[in-house]
Amino acid sequence: MSFHKELETTVRLLTASGKGILAADESTGTIAKRFKEASIENVEENRRAYRELLFTTPGMEQAICGVIFFEETLSQKAKDGTSFPALLAKKGVVPGIKVDKGTIGLPGAPGELITQGLDGLGEALQRHKALGARFAKWRAVITIGEGIPSSYCIAANAHALARYAALCTENGIVPIVEPEVLMDADNTLERCYEVTSLTLDAVFRELFQQRVVLEHILLKPNMVIAGKKCPTQAGVQQVAEATVRCFRNHVPAAVPGIVFLSGGQSDEAATAHLDAIARLGPHPWSVSFSYGRALQAPAIKTWAGKEAQWKAGQTAFSHRARMNAAAQLGKYSQAMEREVAKV
Ligand code: 13P
Repeated sequence: MSFHKELETTVRLLTASGKGILAADESTGTIAKRFKEASIENVEENRRAYRELLFTTPGMEQAICGVIFFEETLSQKAKDGTSFPALLAKKGVVPGIKVDKGTIGLPGAPGELITQGLDGLGEALQRHKALGARFAKWRAVITIGEGIPSSYCIAANAHALARYAALCTENGIVPIVEPEVLMDADNTLERCYEVTSLTLDAVFRELFQQRVVLEHILLKPNMVIAGKKCPTQAGVQQVAEATVRCFRNHVPAAVPGIVFLSGGQSDEAATAHLDAIARLGPHPWSVSFSYGRALQAPAIKTWAGKEAQWKAGQTAFSHRARMNAAAQLGKYSQAMEREVAKV
């Protein structure tokens, strides 16, 4: 069975102008870290309540076209009994699902990681689709360090990403292909450029060999940026120019959309970088955000698990979503940060 039309529709919805994707797919372990910083207990009811806060934020659908869920969230409900996928679908927001099972050490490659989750993935995708998911995410991690990444690590991760993408499209699910070059080390922007280029080349070679139709995928990459511990940090314009140059050289024009991850950049830096990238357009692909931390950090901190802070948490989320939506259009300015609207 061909899912051509269905895939095209999902891609069109996920590349809507002036909108982007909310990555709310933190695993139970990852959300524990985010909650801990705000002294929120990591129990199922708090995870459910927090996701309800995000998804019921008034007007979020004006800035957000898709949400990536963690598996647990896909079968959770809002207080009024509406399932989260149905709640979002009603607002015209497309529900998606993280399907990888996280990373483990890559055998024989000290300091490097491989993503797991291919076994049984076809059946899992069918289950997720029955619950409302229309797109998926798989995150591969490439680490920069002394003598790494190895070409073995890049090749193994690229192969797994393409296997995942092929299974998704075969099941009518749009794959978000996420090869993340980490920005935690002390490397320069130039080194990030080089590693991102090698990674993208390997990923697109594998996608081609595994017969994945590029028109049916979205790419979720890191920006080209110096590592957090690098003493020389590039300015916003330099990051934008290096990022655009790298992607123009390594991402085929058939790919409909690039949706950047934030990767631990501060929320305002992630927005400013996206805005500067948009201003360098038009680009061959749509360019937007699929942020986790950069969209949610102020909301978690403000809510802090307190009922009385619910509205304020939504206001904080709504503000970041609107800032990034403006950046997608290349219409963001620092002054807008002060116009925090009430929801
Ligand atoms: P960050 O924007 O916090 O990097 O998260 C995006 C994501 O989905 C990582 O897999």
